[in-house]
Amino acid sequence: MRKTAPPRTYRVESFGCQMNVYDGQRMAEMLAEQGILAAPDGNDADLVVLNTCHIRERAAEKIYSRIGRLTKGKDEPPLIAVAGCVAQAEGEEIMHRAPAVSMVVGPQAYHRLPSMLERAVAGIRSTDTDMPPIAKFDALPARRKSAPSAFLTVQEGCDKFCTYCVVPYTRGAEISRPFPDLLNEAERLVDGGAREITLLGQNVNAWTGDDGLGRAIGLAGLIHALAKIPDLLRIRYTTSHPADMDDALVAAHGEIEKLMPYLHLPVQSGSNRVLKAMNRSHTVETYLKLLDRFRSVRPDIALSGDFIVGFPGESEAEFEETLALVDTVGYAAAFSFKYSPRPGTPAATMDGQIAAEVMDDRLQRLQAHLNRDQFAFNEASVGKTCDVLVERKGKLPGQWLGKSPWLQSVHFTGDAAIGDMVTTQLVEALGNSLSGRLVEPAYSRSSPSPK
Ligand code: 5AD
Ligand code: SF4
Repeated sequence: MRKTAPPRTYRVESFGCQMNVYDGQRMAEMLAEQGILAAPDGNDADLVVLNTCHIRERAAEKIYSRIGRLTKGKDEPPLIAVAGCVAQAEGEEIMHRAPAVSMVVGPQAYHRLPSMLERAVAGIRSTDTDMPPIAKFDALPARRKSAPSAFLTVQEGCDKFCTYCVVPYTRGAEISRPFPDLLNEAERLVDGGAREITLLGQNVNAWTGDDGLGRAIGLAGLIHALAKIPDLLRIRYTTSHPADMDDALVAAHGEIEKLMPYLHLPVQSGSNRVLKAMNRSHTVETYLKLLDRFRSVRPDIALSGDFIVGFPGESEAEFEETLALVDTVGYAAAFSFKYSPRPGTPAATMDGQIAAEVMDDRLQRLQAHLNRDQFAFNEASVGKTCDVLVERKGKLPGQWLGKSPWLQSVHFTGDAAIGDMVTTQLVEALGNSLSGRLVEPAYSRSSPSPK
């Protein structure tokens, strides 16, 4: 690899989950600290970080074709770093197959990107896929500016080993960031303009910590503490695992006004046989009971889930059990996927892999049910008055876009600014969003009270 001039501009391209979006922002902050500027939209950057996702589909192939487009026919191609879960899972292979890549950095090692960059400028390629627990957060620069809605990673990794999933291998074992660090980062985010914080973790509700007085607390305790930050108006968390749900977190939804009435709780399948083969530690019945407990403290809670169709061995009747579960729950939102064999996971070599056409058909049928329910949820919100946190300008002049407490996208026109909490009346349900009418501009309460 030849020497190059130090990069003046960078671009971070993040794929996949919200944790990757968070990591991408932290990498961008770190590069900015080095005096490298964000490349304006539409311009080439001197350094491109591809922050990859490995959870589904042919993630690696997409990355190779993106690398091809970044370098083809260019006299001075950018420096390229591959980060994220594909880097963790296939680092060596990337180095071998893509000579244009000078840095491969795993999700637990990206705080070392600046020193890798120095080496890359000197013409030396490097790979770092170590997994030192937590070290990266300490090594990242303090946070200065934030969008109204910010992410905060509180927990990483997974010990659940669902048989289809690569996360336990790419993100490592479950770890919780210490309570004082989180309080501090949340305060910095709020000082920098955040009004809403979404706590992130692959198993966010497995978070545990010490409250500084020697008492062990769980996610509910952390949320109670964050709710005391005066200018923080909304708190959310994702993604939860049914096995880690405790009474305190359920109760928090009835106690903390700032905790938004929204719960993302993946179920994956409506068949107990398939759930067992997936190694999900819950049944349809225990999952439904859990949802009932949330609904009893917060009847308006919006429920969301993840689904996989076509897991090896899934019969038509078992798939129909998933449809029946969806009909029972009435989800406000959902994410649904075709099963994708991930190398190294137990399910990839199971008998009974399902044909692509069958998966396509099942996904379409499932999504028809989920879309119907999402629309019904939005329709049922019409007429309600609720707060909207303004996140950006809309396409039309004077139009603004933000989120309702139930995480619906709401647009309205009128006197507002990014970061305002305004009150709107929801007037019409459209495909994926609602239109609202401004009732009260820039007012600072965060959500309707529970019940
Ligand atoms: N195939 C399809 N979907 C998957 N997910 C995780 N692994 C796979 C896979 N191999 C889905 C699950 C999970 C979400 C983040 O991605 O639904 O909850
Ligand atoms: Fe993957 Fe299961 Fe862990 Fe979620 S709980 S990250 S699906 S192994």
